[in-house]
Amino acid sequence: MPSVYIKTYGCQMNERDSEAVAAQLVAKGYTLAPSEAVADVILLNTCSVRDFAEQKALNKMVNVIAETRRTRPNVVLGFMGCMAQSRGQELVDRLPDVDLVLGTQKFHHAADYLDELLAGRREKIVDVAAEQGSEATIREHLLYGNAAGNGDGRRPPLQVTAFVSIMQGCNQYCTFCIVPYTRGEERSRSIPDIVAECRQLVSQGVKEITLLGQIVTSYGKRGFGRAELLLGQDAQQRVPTTVVGRAGSPLPADGGASVPASRLVSSLAPPNDTVAHGVTRPSLQESPFVQLLDAVHEIEGLERIRFTSPHPKGYGDDLIEAYARLSKLVEHAHLPVQSGSDRVLKLMHRGYTRARYVSIIEKLRRARPGIGISTDIIVGFPGETEDDFEQTLSLAREVEFDQAYIFKYSQRRDTPAAEMANQVPQKIREERNQRLLEVINEIAKRRFGAFVGRQMQILVEGPSKKNPARMTGRTRCNKIVVFDGSERHRGQLMDVKITRAGSFTLYGDPAILE
Ligand code: 5AD
Repeated sequence: MPSVYIKTYGCQMNERDSEAVAAQLVAKGYTLAPSEAVADVILLNTCSVRDFAEQKALNKMVNVIAETRRTRPNVVLGFMGCMAQSRGQELVDRLPDVDLVLGTQKFHHAADYLDELLAGRREKIVDVAAEQGSEATIREHLLYGNAAGNGDGRRPPLQVTAFVSIMQGCNQYCTFCIVPYTRGEERSRSIPDIVAECRQLVSQGVKEITLLGQIVTSYGKRGFGRAELLLGQDAQQRVPTTVVGRAGSPLPADGGASVPASRLVSSLAPPNDTVAHGVTRPSLQESPFVQLLDAVHEIEGLERIRFTSPHPKGYGDDLIEAYARLSKLVEHAHLPVQSGSDRVLKLMHRGYTRARYVSIIEKLRRARPGIGISTDIIVGFPGETEDDFEQTLSLAREVEFDQAYIFKYSQRRDTPAAEMANQVPQKIREERNQRLLEVINEIAKRRFGAFVGRQMQILVEGPSKKNPARMTGRTRCNKIVVFDGSERHRGQLMDVKITRAGSFTLYGDPAILE
């Protein structure tokens, strides 16, 4: 059977999509090639969020073509994901060696399309159409790597943590952002469908699940009837959950809805219902996202729940209250702020003010002292003045982020901001990027330094990428901790004493408990 190499650019959604495609292919008998040099199929899963990301994938394909076409003319080359979606046929017109262009609602057709291309039944395939129900098709996992396994059922999976896609698309239409055009309208999977997938992962040894969506706080708000969301009839019948197991064969799902029917009924009850699944609750109407968190929290054996990314607009008191109530929900929130200036936030169409953002952070820190806060910030948005930028600097100092991903504004085609007057010169974008980076790094250094000497719980994920002789784990507040350990620690929750802080990394010693 052919081998495939997938290279992924961009966000965790892309990582997850690549994993699902790889798992589908492995289930069909493909192997995963260790590098593109020996692969029969090379797929680039692309990102469009900034021009730089697109250029990187395009340049990569040019290089791949130069290297493969001369010596291995039959290798199948494909683009998939966001740039495939937004550029479509244009990619093949520009690079005629490309055989496959697979859009963001078409990942589950990868195996069939590759079969046709490899068998020579079709010469080129470009499929970027919308497809109803595609949000429920990102479900296969590759917990055992390249389908290897000793068959005795006792080998622990390579993955202790897993991403679960809960929705697709975005309806926020931030003026800078291309995502609504590459990922389509918001569409959510049903709660039972998601819970069944999580349950399956946990039964395979996964300890931590990250719920993924472009804006997870909008989960279940549109494109789905409320009853369908909670009962999940159609989505469940359509495609069974599979985890690609030891011999590369799909394991059967462990059964459908795992949320008790009584709970579903109570979830559909009017807002002032105070008793749900046996626990007295505040009379707060729960958003579908919080209902999902409640349902996932009930999975026995699951240790930690994360999610990314929420939107400040959707960060209601019900979600803050969930932090106080749900012990598996870790002390970490990645809450993109984008700017500290109300004027710019409005131009960006973000739907909140700086004061509202700060008040969410305050509430979160009250609900969970020690919570790690990370964010995304754009510098050089069109019309951003020195004064606006200084407000972003002051917000960074006020909130004291643990980590911030800073992006120089990049004009994206068909987005309103690309057409705005007063585009900020590249030189100023770079200069602001540098100034903000200095502030963020200085704060992070102080915050990371404060962990030295403390004992923290980590979940051990596997060998460190930089130094495979050491192991890494993650604290609940999302700090990476490197320590001297071995494979037997993988998947364990253990206490370590922090001995040193590096740049965005902590170093620890397994703690000897008295
Ligand atoms: N230019 C720069 N950064 C962008 N992002 C999204 N669109 C753009 C753009 N046009 C950033 C935002 C978002 C992160 C994933 O990428 O900060 O939160």
